[in-house]
Amino acid sequence: MTSLIRFLMCAPDHYDVDYVINPWMEGNIHKSSRDRAVEQWHKLHHTIKEHAIVDLVTPEQGWPDMVFTANAGLVLGKTVVLSRFLHKERQGEEPYFQQWFEKNGYTVHVLPPELPFEGAGDALLDREGRWLWAGYGFRSELDSHPYLAKWLDVEVLSLRLIDDRFYHLDTCFCPLTDGYLLYYPPAFDSYSNRLIEMRVAPEKRIVVTEPDAVNFACNAVNVDRIVIMNKISNKLKTQLADVGFQVIQTPLTEFLKAGGAAKCLTLRTTEPVREELHGSVYVESRVICMKGHLLDAGLINRALDLIVDNGGSFQVLNFDLGEQRQSTSSAEVKVSAPSHEVMEEIISQLIELGAVDLPQDERDAKLLPVTLDGVAPDDFYVSTIYPTEVRINGQWVKVEKQRMDGAIAITETPNGIVAQCKLIRDLTLADKVVVDVQGIRTVRKPESREQRNSQEFSFMSAGVSSERRVELIVEQVAWELRKIRDAGGKVAVTAGPVVIHTGGGQHLAQLIREGYIQTLLGGNAIAVHDIEQSLMGTSLGVDMKRGVAVMGGHRHHLKVINTVRRYGSIAQAVEAGVIQSGVMYECVKNNVPFVLAGSIRDDGPLPDTQMDLIKAQAEYTQQLQGVEMILMLSSMLHSIGVGNMTPAGVKMVCVDINPAVVTKLSDRGSVESTGVVTDVGLFLSLLIQQLNQLTSPYTTQIG
Ligand code: ARG
Repeated sequence: MTSLIRFLMCAPDHYDVDYVINPWMEGNIHKSSRDRAVEQWHKLHHTIKEHAIVDLVTPEQGWPDMVFTANAGLVLGKTVVLSRFLHKERQGEEPYFQQWFEKNGYTVHVLPPELPFEGAGDALLDREGRWLWAGYGFRSELDSHPYLAKWLDVEVLSLRLIDDRFYHLDTCFCPLTDGYLLYYPPAFDSYSNRLIEMRVAPEKRIVVTEPDAVNFACNAVNVDRIVIMNKISNKLKTQLADVGFQVIQTPLTEFLKAGGAAKCLTLRTTEPVREELHGSVYVESRVICMKGHLLDAGLINRALDLIVDNGGSFQVLNFDLGEQRQSTSSAEVKVSAPSHEVMEEIISQLIELGAVDLPQDERDAKLLPVTLDGVAPDDFYVSTIYPTEVRINGQWVKVEKQRMDGAIAITETPNGIVAQCKLIRDLTLADKVVVDVQGIRTVRKPESREQRNSQEFSFMSAGVSSERRVELIVEQVAWELRKIRDAGGKVAVTAGPVVIHTGGGQHLAQLIREGYIQTLLGGNAIAVHDIEQSLMGTSLGVDMKRGVAVMGGHRHHLKVINTVRRYGSIAQAVEAGVIQSGVMYECVKNNVPFVLAGSIRDDGPLPDTQMDLIKAQAEYTQQLQGVEMILMLSSMLHSIGVGNMTPAGVKMVCVDINPAVVTKLSDRGSVESTGVVTDVGLFLSLLIQQLNQLTSPYTTQIG
């Protein structure tokens, strides 16, 4: 032994699997053999002693996991950050390790209570000492990382663990001499993998397969060019040999039963300090405030889940629980994220849920000028369907033309500041655009318990609607339609050709005739098949009365297109008396505007079909101004397009035989959308029946 490298170990006098705090311990309580454990530990001890100095800490009765000295703390130079164990089963080890460190001349830092950090099990120095890799997700809290940066004066790179078999960083990640890295990428989230790939060159990354990973191949002790570990595959051994590492394998099966191996059983206490480098950390924190039916409406769960799912962490600082059924609650939550990028993602989703800054933290929105027509600054805030306000010069300004997937553009006009949602392509050099996630809030009506329940009730991801359920929804829709019509309101329909194929055309035509629909949005096909039915009695060549394909019927729709083209437009064909019934006929006769948006597969098209899609989108948007309700009838593309343009608050009823379409559209996180999985022809016929039955106090006679 020539090296001055030192390790701390703890003999397995009291080692056993006494409890379960990780998946490896499950089913292994008292299943490890003491004799074999002692033998394996001594072998490891002996092997390490050939390459370094080993100090020993006295094992203590009642603390069986004390053998895993990696979890004593994190050492750099003469400074230690003492572990604060997550599980009470190991918390009793803390004072013993603290004593040992103090007796041996280390300065010991102790984290605040309730902030778990499990030492060198979750924090590994780059072997060149350039930075510290710190894990979080299971045992250590992200918020401990800034303390590490401060106390150890080192750059901290946070890595999120996502596979509970690899609950400590050292179970799946092992920095080696010369900047090499032995690791198991699936144990990390994609953000962390990107960070690893940015810091470690491809030729230095040694990726471990799952079979080796579950044998704790990454849980290795590295001294210079030697790597000491449990049994591994020959392939990995050769891989390591190829880049100059000598592998020493020593069996550690008894410790695997507790979820540890070579590296866990040791703590390196001589880690060189790089004086020229200094502490930094990318962890950001921000306190947000939420109000509403946080519990009843499940808002707080959604908020906390999304923080964690996106790689952040939280601490609930205050929770004020509304006691009555009607009263709202409020919560203050500290959100932490491993980087600004992740923080932005989390905060933008929280804003959607209605989260706001504390009054004392409110700041103006960040604005950047547009420097190229039709292009937003990179970091632009993506708008949502929810009513939004942005803070400009200390004032909250309401955003106009609310829609999703736009940018928020700010323009100064003689009448003051205007904020509006704009599509990227519509941005001009005169616009400033809201970037980042500061000074933005959405104003959401508190969702009540009743509303949420009805939303879940009507949310039909689970498949087929029962007949009674469809009837119930039809009743509601009929009632709404009648109410809106009688109040002079506006209803839009998006419809696909299936409406005609399923025999719903006559019902839709009736709705239009009776004044229930104020605008029709579709594509070329709905009009073509509607007119085909009116002119030839078929829809895509199928006889609508007998339900069978007629000879030569597949040519019908082309004849129809040709006829309309001869007259110049649908309206002109109606005026000429060529088209005498149907959906399009009623639109023309009742002055109900329609927009037909073209697509790549259109035959013809009809002269009315708008083949310039940018124009078609603009015409749709125009028609949607002021609508209160949208019936989406079996047209996925047009319905999704419309959904994107529509702010929250507009009732949407989506009818499709395909549950996936219904799910996609009704899952807007708003209570106003209802999905119905059923045949659209049937739905329309029920709707007409229901409307005929309805007697309203304000019933007016139309027609
Ligand atoms: N049973 C111990 C625990 O779950 C094993 C610790 C392994 N140590 C490590 N550094 N990975 O805490």
